[in-house]
Formats: sequence, C-alpha cells, structure tokens
Amino acid sequence: MRADITVLPGDGIGPEVTAAAVAVLRKVACQFGHVFEFNEQLIGGIAIDTCGEPLPQATIDACVNSDAVLLGAVGGPKWSDPQARVRPEQGLLGLRAKLGVFANLRPLRVHPRLASLSPLKAENLVGVDLLFVRELTGGAYFGKKSREDDVAIDECRYSVAEVERVVRRACELAKARKRRLTSVDKANVLETSRLWRTTTERVVAEYPEIELEHQLVDSMAMLLLTRPASYDVIVTENLFGDILTDEAAALAGSLGVSPSASLGAGRLGLYEPIHGSAPDIAGQGVANPIGAILSAALLLRHSLGLEAEASELEAAVDAVLDSAELTRDLGGNASTSEVTESVLAKLNSRQQAAA
Ligand code: NAD
Ligand code: IPM
Ligand code: MN
Repeated sequence: MRADITVLPGDGIGPEVTAAAVAVLRKVACQFGHVFEFNEQLIGGIAIDTCGEPLPQATIDACVNSDAVLLGAVGGPKWSDPQARVRPEQGLLGLRAKLGVFANLRPLRVHPRLASLSPLKAENLVGVDLLFVRELTGGAYFGKKSREDDVAIDECRYSVAEVERVVRRACELAKARKRRLTSVDKANVLETSRLWRTTTERVVAEYPEIELEHQLVDSMAMLLLTRPASYDVIVTENLFGDILTDEAAALAGSLGVSPSASLGAGRLGLYEPIHGSAPDIAGQGVANPIGAILSAALLLRHSLGLEAEASELEAAVDAVLDSAELTRDLGGNASTSEVTESVLAKLNSRQQAAA
C-alpha cells in the first residue's frame, strides 16, 4: 500500500526518537512491499523559534492531508517561562483538537527482563496487561482559562456526547480483550465526574458482555501500585489519564518504552510516545527509542490497518528487550541508534527465519 505519514520531530529528544521510528517504518515498508512517504513539519518550541507559533498552518495542512501523524515530543526549559506568550505544548493540544483525536490509547505491559527495574516487586507485575483509554480533547485542558490578579481559573467541562464517544471506543477495545472495563472518575466531588459516571453506565449497558467497575481516581492511583494485574481496560478523563499513565509507565521500568495512539472518528491518527522531550538527556544520543518505535507499530495497526506488520514490529521489539543491549534508562549502555539497529537486525533475522 501507499501511505503519507507526517513526521513532527518537535523538541529535545523528539528528533532522536522519531528518526528511529522512521528508520524502522522504512524497513517495514521495504520488507512488506509498501511505499511510505514521510513529510517532516514543525511543531512546538522549534516552530515557535522558526515561525513564531507552535502549530503553523503548514503543519496542520500536512497533518490533515496525511494518513497518519508521527510525533516526537514538544517543550523544554527554553520555552517554559510562565509569562511566555505562547508555549510549545499549545501546539500539541491544538493539533489533538484539530485532528479530533478524542481517544488516546496507552497500552502497558511489563516485559519480564524489565520487571526488576520497576519500583514494584516483580511478583506483583506478573500478568500486567493494561490498556488506558484517556479522553484527549476535553476537560480542564480545553476549558476556558482566565487569570485576574491573584486568581486563576481552568474550567473543566464535559458534555454527554464527549463522554459517550470515548467510552464507546473503550468498550469496543475491551470486547477484543478480557472484557473488563474500569472507569475512573472523582464522582464523589466533581459534577463532570457524575456526568461521566451516569453516561458510562448507560453506554456500557449496550455491551452486556462487558463487566464495568468504577474507581475513584485517588484510589485508582493506589490500586495501580498494589494490584496492577487486576485491570484490563481503564477509561478516564483527560487530566486523570495523563497522570495515571505516567504512574503506570513506571511499572514497565521506564517512561521511555510506552507508546500511544490518539484516534478520532476516522482512520487518521496521531502517534507519539507518552514521554516528553527529556531535556536532561536531549542531544546525547542516549534516549530510548522504544516508545516511539512501538508508537509506529500502533500507527501501522490503527491508521494503516496493517496488523501483520504491526505485530511483526512488536515481536522484533520484544526480541530486542529479551536479549539486546538497552539504553541507560533500562540499565544498559546502548545508544539510541544502537537500539534502533538492534530492532532493524531483529526484523531482518525474523524475515529470514520465516522465509
Ligand atoms: P519527560 O517525559 O520529558 O522526562 C521525564 C524523565 O524521563 C526524565 O528524566 C527523562 O530523561 C526520562 N525520559 C523520558 N523519555 C525518555 C526516553 N525516551 N529515554 C530515556 N529517558 C527518558 O517529562 P518532563 O521532564 O516532565 O517534561 C519535559 C518537557 O516535555 C516539558 O516541557 C513537558 O511539557 C514536555 N512533555 C511533552 C510531551 C509530549 O510532547 N507528548 C509529553 C510529556 C511532557
Ligand atoms: C502527554 C503530555 C501532554 C499532556 C502535554 C505535553 C501537553 O504530558 O502527552 O502526556 O499533558 O497531554
Ligand atoms: Mn503526560
């Protein structure tokens, strides 16, 4: 097949990890006889420096006209002044809104070799296989913001329709898994959470095969540490999902291995590792590319419908995690490009073994 992929390297380690993901996608295209065209555009801090805004129109145009968007990360100390007129993160939020990608999928498994790097005891990590579905285009992130002297307001707003569509997506995903759905809210305090809860119950009632459980977000933060293997699909609002998924990522040994897919109504999706621009290690060639590479696998699956290719890439990454030298965050000494080379080599050897 032919596919147009917009690449948004962004800031910090973003360019390093997207280069790795693109190299791997080129390899997959070559192995499976596809043609992928990559079109690189600006977003975030680099876009502010180059054209004064974090999400230039040319970037939006390229993204909406492509089959999928692969993003690195945005932000960094250079653009973090609280008084700044524009921020890199506005570029990312603007893009999510423009693309209408309301469902952010963040899968999480713990590879056995990495269990010892997790702050949890390895025995508590056996069988952890989570899929977070984070609502991505609503809530406090997108509500009205205001500032007056000593008071600041971030409005948190959700409509029934916004909750319905993301919960429905979570149900569809749960159907193909263990059919257990945990909805996370703060319904004992927040009105938006009460709307979230009643809407969720109504939508899930359409799926008799799915077992629904509600958890309050504070308790869920604890349960993720005490019994992470008890959960399957976890659906929640934007800010809770942001926080819980970084917490959960620590279970897997490093923030550097977690991918994400942001999906809307159509096929066009936005794919990015869940980590940020990691200014503390940017430019050193030591960033872990696995989160970005696994995001590329999600791109193959969800936007291009290439399931076999996605599984093959995930298997190659698994094999690298089994036996290859890894990056510093995973206790190894390998560089970003060495890990990328290992993934490419695994793709090669798996293809030869299959032939
Ligand atoms: P971060 O995720 O960038 O880094 C947190 C820690 O994890 C750092 O110690 C970093 O070195 C490490 N880390 C992250 N990714 C890694 C990788 N691939 N390999 C090895 N180590 C890795 O979070 P932060 O420091 O809180 O944020 C830095 C900037 O990134 C901020 O400006 C923030 O807004 C932005 N950010 C952007 C995104 C995004 O673009 N999607 C996501 C999160 C944060
Ligand atoms: C993420 C990031 C973003 C978010 C920031 C950079 C806007 O933390 O993708 O998880 O909060 O959604
Ligand atoms: Mn985050």
